[in-house]
Amino acid sequence: MKTIETTNQFILNTYKRYPVVFEKGTGCYLFDENGKKYLDMSSGIAVSLLGHSHPEVVKAIKKQSNKLLHTSNLYYSTPAPKLAKKLVEKSVFSKAFFCNSGAEANEAALKIAKKYGKIHGGEKKFKILSFKNSFHGRTIATITATGQTKYQESFTPLLPGVEYAEYNNIESVKKLISDDVCAVIIEPLQGEGGVHPAQGDFIKQLRELCDKHNALLIFDEIQTGVGRTGTLFAYEQFLPTKPDIVTLAKGIAAGLPMGVTLVNEKLSEVLQPGDHASTFGGNLLTSSVALAVLNCIDNDKILENVQKSGSYLIKKLNELKLKYSSIKDIRGQGLLIGIEIDFPAPELVNALIDKKIITVPAGTSVVRFLPPLIIKKKEIDILIDALDEIFKKRI
Ligand SMILES: Cc1ncc(COP(=O)(O)O)c(C=O)c1O
Repeated sequence: MKTIETTNQFILNTYKRYPVVFEKGTGCYLFDENGKKYLDMSSGIAVSLLGHSHPEVVKAIKKQSNKLLHTSNLYYSTPAPKLAKKLVEKSVFSKAFFCNSGAEANEAALKIAKKYGKIHGGEKKFKILSFKNSFHGRTIATITATGQTKYQESFTPLLPGVEYAEYNNIESVKKLISDDVCAVIIEPLQGEGGVHPAQGDFIKQLRELCDKHNALLIFDEIQTGVGRTGTLFAYEQFLPTKPDIVTLAKGIAAGLPMGVTLVNEKLSEVLQPGDHASTFGGNLLTSSVALAVLNCIDNDKILENVQKSGSYLIKKLNELKLKYSSIKDIRGQGLLIGIEIDFPAPELVNALIDKKIITVPAGTSVVRFLPPLIIKKKEIDILIDALDEIFKKRI
């Protein structure tokens, strides 16, 4: 039976898939079952940050899988603490919790916030403040934190005590924050909600409000973390302002499922044995691959490439914007860039697939470019030429 028919018959219908069956990948390119080559400008939605089949990732998988894959968190094993130490050394945080996905990393962050609230403010301090248009995952707690009703309405009643302020609008935060709030959760750049970067001044004032009300500041860096915006963590671009918790997933293990919740010193003892757990969290295989990813980011000068290639992509997209009035805006940071257009985003995504280029929509009228962080000028030029042809035809 063909892959598409078997998928439709035996897998729950939770995804609107494009009719392509990918079989292998190398560098910035994917190949379908007929051997056709596609330029990957999506990285599996910000996951494959070293490109496909990166030799160091393959080596780490082979090496660790020959030794031991999994034991459980009832015992000690070497890769996870090495990874936690590296993440701590490279950040302003003190300890890590490992799980398997972005939603789970946020779930852990929200549980830490709730317990912290209970300890420091009693039963009333359980409220969470989030933002309109945000995206934090698909579990019940994380769809509640997600400020978009389309992800929530079929699943009400949701978690109590979550409210949504306007992104980049400090007055709207002032109206909702109080001593009953235990945490504010925010993406430093809203990805799924349309590629909107947070303003530095807004984040600084948000931190001050959190301090005033003894609320934790959680940065959801599931999409922006691990080099995507040109620094290892996006929060680095707001220093000296710092969050209390950062969550990571997607690219951290280059395609293997891993989520990370990093906390600062004051939170490092909030969770105690029995409070939280994950069977697979930080297992030997994913942790050793994540270590290889962090080493490659350093050794291959990945952050420099993100800054250079990201600036080039923005410049070329802005040149197109001057030529075509249907391009309304170009936004983003590093290699997380959105093009806002005056027609439905899926139309552009489909036109690009016809030209063998893979991208992802963000909201109704924005298309996201999230290429592997190893992308070079040559591949960016392929995208720009394809966009030029598509927009030329629309005039
Ligand atoms: C900012 C953000 N948070 C959370 C998530 C959820 O991650 P996952 O799908 O791994 O649960 C995503 C996924 O797109 C995301 O972009």
